[in-house]
Amino acid sequence: MSLKFVSYMSSQSRIMSRKSIEDFLFEVREKNKQLAITGILLLIQGKFVQYIEGPAAEIDNVYESISKDKRHTEMILLDSGDLDERQFKDWSMAYKEVENKQIKAIVGKENLDLEAIFLKGKDLKNHPVLTVLYDFVKTLSS
Ligand SMILES: Cc1cc2nc3c(=O)[nH]c(=O)nc-3n(C[C@H](O)[C@H](O)[C@H](O)COP(=O)(O)O)c2cc1C
Repeated sequence: MSLKFVSYMSSQSRIMSRKSIEDFLFEVREKNKQLAITGILLLIQGKFVQYIEGPAAEIDNVYESISKDKRHTEMILLDSGDLDERQFKDWSMAYKEVENKQIKAIVGKENLDLEAIFLKGKDLKNHPVLTVLYDFVKTLSS
């Protein structure tokens, strides 16, 4: 069974209450457990950044469902590829709300234009938001 990962970012359609985030995470985690999908979801200033990994066919199906989900818009695929081994073994979907100062620390720029990091760049594989995402991937998987 081949493994695959996908990462993308998107904009929240509307601000979700604490309760609706909790319900949403419950739903996502249950489904991911059944499908053997693991990963992380970040919420940064109303933008979602998600990394999912699992069996290639399941990842393709879930990515398709996610892309139709009305809870977010403006989805941009950042990176995808084959995996030899999972980065997340124990997380059906880790979730983190990231503050501006954490992003600045990770990306290493003091005067970071936070809007700019979400603008669609030409070189998506080197997109700064991936630095933020993969830094959390490392933190949680190490
Ligand atoms: C930002 C975001 C991330 C999501 N992540 C996942 C996920 O990791 N796994 C999942 O099964 N559904 C995820 N969903 C929910 C799916 O879009 C969809 O509602 C769910 O897979 C149920 O789809 P179904 O009704 O086709 O079974 C996510 C939705 C959003 C808005």
